[in-house]
Amino acid sequence: MAKLGIGVLGVGAMGKRHAENIRRHVPEGRLVAVADVAVEQARQVAKELEIDHAFANFKDMLERKDIDCVVIAAPDKFHAQAIRSAAAAGKQILSEKPLALDLADAKAALDAVTKAGVHLQIGFMRRYDPGYSAAMKRIEAGEIGDPVVFKSIGRDKDAPPISSYQSKLNGMLFYNNTIHDFDLARWLMRDEVSEVQAYTTVAIRPEVAQYGDIVAGVVNLKYGRGAIGNIESYVQCAYGYDVRTEIAGSKGAIQVGTFEQTPATFLTVNGRIQTFADHFLTRFDDAYVAEVQDFVQSMLNDRTPRVTGQDGLRALEIAVAAETSHLQSKPCRVGEVAALAAGGDRRNP
Ligand SMILES: NC(=O)c1ccc[n+]([C@@H]2O[C@H](COP(=O)([O-])OP(=O)(O)OC[C@H]3O[C@@H](n4cnc5c(N)ncnc54)[C@H](O)[C@@H]3O)[C@@H](O)[C@H]2O)c1
Repeated sequence: MAKLGIGVLGVGAMGKRHAENIRRHVPEGRLVAVADVAVEQARQVAKELEIDHAFANFKDMLERKDIDCVVIAAPDKFHAQAIRSAAAAGKQILSEKPLALDLADAKAALDAVTKAGVHLQIGFMRRYDPGYSAAMKRIEAGEIGDPVVFKSIGRDKDAPPISSYQSKLNGMLFYNNTIHDFDLARWLMRDEVSEVQAYTTVAIRPEVAQYGDIVAGVVNLKYGRGAIGNIESYVQCAYGYDVRTEIAGSKGAIQVGTFEQTPATFLTVNGRIQTFADHFLTRFDDAYVAEVQDFVQSMLNDRTPRVTGQDGLRALEIAVAAETSHLQSKPCRVGEVAALAAGGDRRNP
């Protein structure tokens, strides 16, 4: 059986995990190379995973004829350009979220993908999580009737260091974190978000405001067919990595997510102890494997990926609207922002 050759761009926490998963869990794929501006890091990962090629830049990796697909896991700021370069080189692409940090770059990336006739999958791995995919099957089977209310919570355990805000390599909270919930909000409700209203805070860490970021955000949603929703994102809850979602419909509700890393409770003389999930790599361990396996299957069969570039664009449009609402302190219609994006300045409309 011919194996697909795969290269991974960016081997920090996420890219290294993708590389490990390809090496260990994707029999139809062959990890050929990794690339990272921190070339020592690339070399180290190549050594650990027993592959021969580590590059300091993407262009050199793209020149390899034995690479059919690339996984892009560089910081957010580089995704759109990396997608364009990979498409121009004729590679199939799995890119981490977000698709881009603004709508013009997102559209340029999607145009490049269309022009090259390649496939693009976006890394919304929650769709592959056993809990979320089981919920979706039940929603599709009509078990909760018509979805009416969407609620989602995404809390990180520890706030990023201030240097990560200073570098501006990643998008602000709505682009880097809440984007997963914006995707779930469309996918699970099977409807488009038409309007958002964001409430935000920099309480506990006011210095992040100067970098255009926030510590926590609550985004209220209105949907095209009349449903409503609410998403909370928070960078520093201290107790664990907490991702939960609930959809209430006309015939019942579905809850997804749990605090516990393992479904066990320890009863001790000091009380009850449960181990909480503390990191995305543990909470979504299975989802990352299933995501890259499905990507490779889609590519082998020349099939449109399950999570497309358009899904990346729609989630980004919601993030842009949420940021606009945050900046203007008023509700923002999702479509209007997309229309304004070509020339308007959403900070000073
Ligand atoms: N889907 C998810 O659950 C999930 C989780 C975490 C991160 N991510 C996304 O993955 C991406 C990487 O996040 P991370 O947590 O691994 O970050 P990280 O900081 O741990 O790693 C980023 C890596 O990219 C490298 N890099 C920086 N600029 C580069 C460039 N121009 N070209 C190539 N490599 C470059 C860095 O040297 C570093 O090794 C981000 O876009 C992030 O949003 C997704």
